[in-house]
Amino acid sequence: MKNPTKILMQLTRKALDLDWRLLLLLLPPLSLLVYVSLSSSFTTTTSTAVGTLLSSLSPFKSIFHSNYVPHARAPEEVGLRARRRREEEELDRSRIAVCLVGGARRFELTGPSIVQNILGVYNKSDLFLHSPLDPNAYKLSLLKAAPRIAAVKIFQPEPIPETQSQSRVLTAANSPNGIQGLLQYFNLVEGCLTMINDYQRKNNFTYDWIVRTRVDGYWSRPLPRDNFIPGKYLVPPGSSYSGLNDRLGVGDYNTSLVALSRLSLIPLLDAAGHQQLNSESAFKAQLAVKEVPYVTHRIPFCVVTDRRYEFPPGRFGVPVAALSSPGPLSGAKCRPCTPACTGSCVGPVMNGLYRGWSWTEWANKSLELCDAHGDWEEGWEKLFDAVAGRRLAAERKRVEALKLKQCVDDFEEMRKRTALWEAPPAADICRLASGLV
Ligand SMILES: *[C@@H]1O[C@H](CO)[C@@H](O)[C@H](O)[C@H]1NC(C)=O
Ligand SMILES: *[C@@H]1O[C@H](CO)[C@@H](O)[C@H](O)[C@H]1NC(C)=O
Ligand SMILES: *[C@@H]1O[C@H](CO)[C@@H](O)[C@H](O)[C@H]1NC(C)=O
Ligand SMILES: *[C@@H]1O[C@H](CO)[C@@H](O)[C@H](O)[C@H]1NC(C)=O
Repeated sequence: MKNPTKILMQLTRKALDLDWRLLLLLLPPLSLLVYVSLSSSFTTTTSTAVGTLLSSLSPFKSIFHSNYVPHARAPEEVGLRARRRREEEELDRSRIAVCLVGGARRFELTGPSIVQNILGVYNKSDLFLHSPLDPNAYKLSLLKAAPRIAAVKIFQPEPIPETQSQSRVLTAANSPNGIQGLLQYFNLVEGCLTMINDYQRKNNFTYDWIVRTRVDGYWSRPLPRDNFIPGKYLVPPGSSYSGLNDRLGVGDYNTSLVALSRLSLIPLLDAAGHQQLNSESAFKAQLAVKEVPYVTHRIPFCVVTDRRYEFPPGRFGVPVAALSSPGPLSGAKCRPCTPACTGSCVGPVMNGLYRGWSWTEWANKSLELCDAHGDWEEGWEKLFDAVAGRRLAAERKRVEALKLKQCVDDFEEMRKRTALWEAPPAADICRLASGLV
């Protein structure tokens, strides 16, 4: 049924999601090695007291998480509301690490939406940023708007030597970059966990929750509060590529420890006999071997991509959502476009996709599709501004007009309030950007 060559090619392309052409320009000696791009990750936390309290509430979770609509106030409902309020207060008091990983390609569009819909909503959350140094890294300076920043690591990517268990467990696909691409991505994710652990050790506490997300995620609405579920790892549905959607995850500290250990659990997957896994199937396998249960919830973000995709997508093709889709898009690929397919056009296209691959939920008119076979359309900026609203539009324009000095000043301001800072000098990051003067 599935065409294996096509699947392999898709896999490879997916692993290389980032634009590594830029990287190759930067790193000619590495040109045989792939660098993988973004992916995401977030983290969680567990202070003992709060963790215990949340666990004790967990039998009621499913009730809290249902779409409870207050009408009449039966006594049970009043009790329910009180309990729910208590739980929300617990979340407000709990310590959340937000792990943001990947390259900054279109961060002038995605960054402000992350600040607004995650960091600004969970305003006691701490940001952990793990990104490669590239000509777009200067855009990360807009994170000076983040309420709290715990750690920043912007690093020069280097090839990661491949171990024997990695070559057994992971699929190389038919590309020179296959496994190296996966390793670069896994390193971004697990590196964020390392940063969190360093920070926790230094400050003698443990986070209650870790939210893992990607630098290239565009958030159309706040991360809903019902996604913090003790003892279970939360991922979005769809885009599962024979495994689990790995574009976002939310979990308590213990489940996140498993979910983010993408490199160090590979020997365990090897011992369990797993072979030829892609990122998503390796992710699913690592939760399974450590017996971490997962749940899926639709989540209001999409992954902004510059890449071109065949339209309409074939059975193993990739649908590209219009950024203006009502959503939630659960991490599907997106771009600003005038939708080519809406309403009754969407169902037949999406039903043509293989469900266990790049398919994504489109029920309730949540999805409108772009014809993404070419470059972003002329005037995409206006389309973006209209969808994103005045605040995000202003931020996009600010980054577009950023001057070298402002870039350096912004990074300096960030550095002053970041406990763990590991990055090249601000001037070096800003000068890498072409056209910043
Ligand atoms: C954090 O959010 C709460 C409620 O949303 C708000 O009352 C509070 O002022 C915010 N704190 C900061 C520092 O922004
Ligand atoms: C760390 O915190 C624990 C409990 O909160 C406390 O008992 C311990 O003394 C602390 N250790 C240090 C080195 O501060
Ligand atoms: C997390 O794991 C630690 C060590 O395995 C355990 O002691 C603790 O009870 C766990 N916490 C929760 C909330 O499950
Ligand atoms: C569509 O909306 C209905 C009504 O709000 C809801 O019950 C259903 O779960 C939604 N479907 C999906 C797939 O989200």
